[in-house]
Amino acid sequence: MEEKIGLILNEALDAIHKADTDVALIEARNKYLSKKSELMGLFGQMKDVPSDKKAVYGQLINDARSKIDSALMQKKVKFDQEALQKRFIAEKIDISLPASSEDPGVRNPYYIIRDEMVAIFLALGYEVAEGPEVESDHYNFELLNIPKDHPARDMQDTFYIDPATLLRTHTSPVQARSMEKAQGTPIRMICPGKVYRRDDDDATHSHQFAQVEGLLIDKNINLGHLQATLSLFVRKLFGEKREIRLRSSYFPFTEPSVEVDVSCAECGGKGCSMCKGSGWIEILGAGMVHPNVLRMSGYDPDVWSGFAFGVGIERVAMLRYGIDDIRRFYQNDIRFIKQFMKG
Ligand code: FA5
Repeated sequence: MEEKIGLILNEALDAIHKADTDVALIEARNKYLSKKSELMGLFGQMKDVPSDKKAVYGQLINDARSKIDSALMQKKVKFDQEALQKRFIAEKIDISLPASSEDPGVRNPYYIIRDEMVAIFLALGYEVAEGPEVESDHYNFELLNIPKDHPARDMQDTFYIDPATLLRTHTSPVQARSMEKAQGTPIRMICPGKVYRRDDDDATHSHQFAQVEGLLIDKNINLGHLQATLSLFVRKLFGEKREIRLRSSYFPFTEPSVEVDVSCAECGGKGCSMCKGSGWIEILGAGMVHPNVLRMSGYDPDVWSGFAFGVGIERVAMLRYGIDDIRRFYQNDIRFIKQFMKG
């Protein structure tokens, strides 16, 4: 009997060792541990065993049964772990993959240039001021030395809400507002914002555009300060190579007044449709603040002096990026905007 048990045990362990599938394990369990198995059948033969050996043989059969059982269990655990590993590999999620791409938004070049201009003046110690787009005639014209019936009003016709309220034609009313607020103390302010005019739209004119206003008030300020500030500004924006020209001009709120042109990026100054053949594109108007304007806003022109300027933001962006038509800023053509995507 002892020998028989040993043979069954070895055969079972060998079969379990060779089993390479779950099914083979189940078959081995049926073959070696089921009630009908040879090993279990040995219990039935115990009646023929001498009574002093019954306990020993019984113990041997049970030992063999538990050895087979634990070998089956170990193999099953091994199979389960291997199956799990296979699933881990097959179902692996690569969390390092970038998410499916969403189109990031792109800044309109108008905003890019606006912020660049503001940064240049912030670095020079200017503060950003704000004013309303729906403005009163008083601030838009009267306090800027443009009384009713002044011919300069014709050049800045606009959209009127009522006879005394209008969409501002320039950012210059913020000059008067800043002076009122500062109450006779020095000022260095810039104001970026939208303006409106009854202009006929073409490649360089829009009925709605944006300006950056600048105002500096202090003692002993002269035209040299204005020229130095503007040349530094233009050089920072366009680089050393771009030429500028100052033309004497007229604004009712500055005396003397100048207009600043930058050489055309499109034709390099030769003359093209963008610069209307002149080789130059006007970007800003400027001048020394008129004594009447200082006086009306509470500054004694014998003590205080200052300069002011107004830059067209789209015109500057056009020059910087070689944009051929100002209307592109507002047409919302995605192909235009996408060209300003970084990287
Ligand atoms: C003015 O608006 C004055 N307020 C500027 C100023 C401020 C002068 C302070 C003196 C002191 P002007 O109308 O020239 O000036 O406009 C200034 C700039 O705005 C122009 O140089 C141009 O760059 C831009 N601009 C004017 N009209 C248009 C338009 N229709 N479309 C686009 N840009 C325009």
